[in-house]
Amino acid sequence: MSNPPVRRGLYVPSAYWAAPSRNFRSSTRLHLQHYLWQNTTKFLLEPRIRTSIEQRKQVKIADLGCGNGAWLADLDNELSQKYISAQLNGYDINELNFPPPAFLPGSITLTKLDVLSERLPMEAIGAFDVVHIRAFSSIIINNNTMNLLSTALALLKPGGWIQWEEWGTDLIIEPASPQLSTVSCEKIARVLKVGGDAQGLNVDFVRELDRHLIKAGFQQVFIREDMKRKQDYKGWTEDFLIIWEEVASFFPSRGETPQESVTKESWAQLFADAVKETEQGVALHRGSVFTAIGRKPFHTGQRS
Ligand SMILES: C[S@@+](CC[C@H](N)C(=O)[O-])C[C@H]1O[C@@H](n2cnc3c(N)ncnc32)[C@H](O)[C@@H]1O
Repeated sequence: MSNPPVRRGLYVPSAYWAAPSRNFRSSTRLHLQHYLWQNTTKFLLEPRIRTSIEQRKQVKIADLGCGNGAWLADLDNELSQKYISAQLNGYDINELNFPPPAFLPGSITLTKLDVLSERLPMEAIGAFDVVHIRAFSSIIINNNTMNLLSTALALLKPGGWIQWEEWGTDLIIEPASPQLSTVSCEKIARVLKVGGDAQGLNVDFVRELDRHLIKAGFQQVFIREDMKRKQDYKGWTEDFLIIWEEVASFFPSRGETPQESVTKESWAQLFADAVKETEQGVALHRGSVFTAIGRKPFHTGQRS
């Protein structure tokens, strides 16, 4: 079957994520995703990092692209139970989903910042023991992780850790029984793959995150893959459906460009059909999540 044509030039990550329409719906999805992620990895800080910082009395941790701060809020709880005093800084290009400071633990500060720009706050340079990144793959174009990794290196103290968590790379469309139709889900996945490829949205780098960290200069690099639990498939499916519903905004309406093969109207129909398939027992998920960690060298020029 030939691939459906997809309009180019519509997805600009910073504009998409900074838009006011990334509002409570996006935040709801991120809350859901956070809990599903925790069910999968069962850690906030990867155990090697946890062990490394456990004996300290004080830590400073940054979360880049922190969304609504759900990860930081849980981390505050975990660290305070261990009597570790923490300063937790979240940075995001969109502040719309930040909870008000009055509702956050005193350790957490959330700041609007484009972490891919070169202008980082002076006080943040070399200030952090850990830099955390999660679910940033849709902002990485053409597998180019260098800007983000340079930011992480700049923010870390010598010997500080990076922890980068990402979705698995393959979208799995899994019917609960073989007679169920997956036609509409497959079609949507194909449209998005073609559209994503045309925009340089290739998530292949995720499987090689360890290599990317080493290339950027990190040491003690380690990557792990945690498989999703079947009992979470329904939640992951709903997470996907919310993304697919949002994607409608990228297509022109039939009235604007009748020659386009994918329009808002045809997408809405396809989406409704895909939802029916999931209601009958088709799961959408990515199989696993990956976590890559690494350490900034203690001395410039130090090799692993
Ligand atoms: C998929 S969400 C993940 C949110 C959060 N890390 C989590 O796991 O719940 C991606 C986040 O990155 C933010 N983002 C996108 N581009 C950014 C940039 N250039 N600088 C800072 N944040 C950015 C978005 O606003 C969004 O909150």
